[in-house]
Amino acid sequence: KKRMVIFASGRGSNAEALHEAVENGTINAEIKALVTDIPGAACIDKAKSWGVPVIVADRKSFDSKQAFEQYILDAIAPYAADVICLAGFMRLLSSDFISHYEHKIINIHPALLPSFRGLHAQGQAVAAGVKIAGCTVHFVVPDMDAGPIILQSAVPVLEDDTEDTLAARILTKEHPTYVRAVQLFCDDKLTIDGNVVRGTQG
Ligand code: GAR
Repeated sequence: KKRMVIFASGRGSNAEALHEAVENGTINAEIKALVTDIPGAACIDKAKSWGVPVIVADRKSFDSKQAFEQYILDAIAPYAADVICLAGFMRLLSSDFISHYEHKIINIHPALLPSFRGLHAQGQAVAAGVKIAGCTVHFVVPDMDAGPIILQSAVPVLEDDTEDTLAARILTKEHPTYVRAVQLFCDDKLTIDGNVVRGTQG
């Protein structure tokens, strides 16, 4: 089994989908810890209810991003993670952090990358008037929302959509798409060839 650590900042519905897939055997992994940067985030109680240790690293209690990241690196080191899943983790990790887990950090973003990187991706899609939106699961590289793409899923954008209604529609695709991508990773099906991830089609 792969050793997984989840990073989350909020509600934790993607974390919950990953947990469920680990529990029912779809994902061949054990969740070793959940890391959050937000004291009081709902994902904390979820992880506790699963019996998973929670590491809270409040950015405000550190003098620098480097100290914040070093704290997390030290806290997760004992778990020797094979995969770190960012599930609504709203901080950009530095290239130094990423270099410790090269090609082992996976993120889900609520847009069809390379369109609409960064915050409020679903609102950006509504504002741009695109007719198709979706989500992307990708390997994390130092450039924000730019790493090799593992899987994407699409949804229609409706004329009366708001950021919230579109976000809700995309979210229903996020959970199965993230589970499938992490399943493929944990089954050692994926290889990275430049920007292209191979082994994603079954
Ligand atoms: C999800 O929509 C995820 O794609 C997004 O935050 C939400 C977290 O929801 N992530 C990003 O925007 C990353 N830049 P959740 O806490 O219920 O999983």
